[in-house]
Amino acid sequence: MFITFEGPDGSGKSTQIKRLAERLRAEGRQVLLTREPGGTAIGEQIRNVLHDLHNTAMQPRAEILLYSAARAQLVGEVILPHLAGGGVVLSDRYYDSTLAYQGYGHGLDLAALRQITAFATHGLKPDVTLLFDLDPDLGLQRRLANREEWNRLDAYDLAFHQRVRAGYLELLRAEPERWIRLDAAQEREALAEAVWACLLPRLPARAPAA
Ligand code: TMP
Repeated sequence: MFITFEGPDGSGKSTQIKRLAERLRAEGRQVLLTREPGGTAIGEQIRNVLHDLHNTAMQPRAEILLYSAARAQLVGEVILPHLAGGGVVLSDRYYDSTLAYQGYGHGLDLAALRQITAFATHGLKPDVTLLFDLDPDLGLQRRLANREEWNRLDAYDLAFHQRVRAGYLELLRAEPERWIRLDAAQEREALAEAVWACLLPRLPARAPAA
């Protein structure tokens, strides 16, 4: 089973995905926790280029190809082999981030992005995607308050982040069977319980102990 977490930085998704991984492991499941961009040695190098605050000249088309390159590496090297072994894969971001940030945020052609994405991923779709939905204003405030790592994409203006949010909500409306929306403004414990409650009915039955 392949589960992805989406939403803005500051929505708590990275904390929540770690908690979910622990909970699933405690149940005896084989869990692979990864993140985008990154998740492989090559992907982490690409992540540094993407996040470098000096790279202000980066073109949106170059950006999407770099994200896709990191993703192609992750899917081929890590995700597909783990799924083939019957494990659960949790990814902090996947191709919906490209559709939301580069497509809705930067206005790049969505059909082209979908084609590039399908090529990069071998057509691998998540089984479930959780949207940590949060007002972008609140997300940025939280990141400043927590002194979190500040990346090049955080530096885009608020209107950009509002378009990203609207994009996520549109993706959710288009595929309601795959997406689950969570209110990320709620307190951490409540959010963790909401994550668990919505995933539990969708998790495959565990193999009986040998
Ligand atoms: P994060 O690892 O802190 O979530 O930061 C990743 C940043 O990269 C975040 O601002 C969203 C952005 N991003 C894209 O714009 N497109 C993508 O395809 C991915 C995976 C991330």
